Amino acid sequence: MLNMVVCVSGGGTNLQAILDAMKEGRIQDSRILAVVSNNASAYGLKRAEMAGIDGICLSPKDYDTREEFNQAFCEKMKRLKPDLIVLAGFLVNIPPRMVKEFAGRIINIHPSLIPSFCGTGFYGLKVHEGALRRGVKITGATVHFVDEGTDTGPILCQKAVEVKEGDTPESLQRRVMEEAEWIILPQVIQEIAQGRIRIGEEQEGLKR
Ligand code: GRF
Repeated sequence: MLNMVVCVSGGGTNLQAILDAMKEGRIQDSRILAVVSNNASAYGLKRAEMAGIDGICLSPKDYDTREEFNQAFCEKMKRLKPDLIVLAGFLVNIPPRMVKEFAGRIINIHPSLIPSFCGTGFYGLKVHEGALRRGVKITGATVHFVDEGTDTGPILCQKAVEVKEGDTPESLQRRVMEEAEWIILPQVIQEIAQGRIRIGEEQEGLKR
């Protein structure tokens, strides 16, 4: 049984894709222990509630210092004891000690083909604004392990999406979600659940 914690900050459509995949048997032998959000009004917490999953709100705003938040976040995660932490649109930097403690056990979905349009400042719509500004004809999404950098960990899976004439950042974001994110994130989780992707070890970029 793969025990997961999913972290969200917003709409939670990637969380919903995971929940749907679990319901439809496209993800097996897995369980979401809790959904964690830094944003009390994140619809992702509502999705968790509707699915009967514990929702936990932990926001840096509730702590005097970032160090205190990091401490609380790490303690909470250690108590939950997940095999895998899934960052599904989570906009808070993961504390370095959590990256270390859960080395090879944290994955993230990013809405571009890394190494394009990623790193500091590239999140949400800004990713798609960058792609449209550069005029790329193909973009997509990436699932990768989380390391101490931003969007720099070993890549696990990518899926390409066509940029269409007249696309806006919003229309492109929607297509990348529908045609890439919501497909590859559940796919990677299933491969981890089946042991076809190894977790918890030093990963130097996976040969699959
Ligand atoms: C998605 O585009 C995801 O790739 C990015 O943030 C967005 C979150 O969307 N990290 P949602 O909360 O899963 O709907």
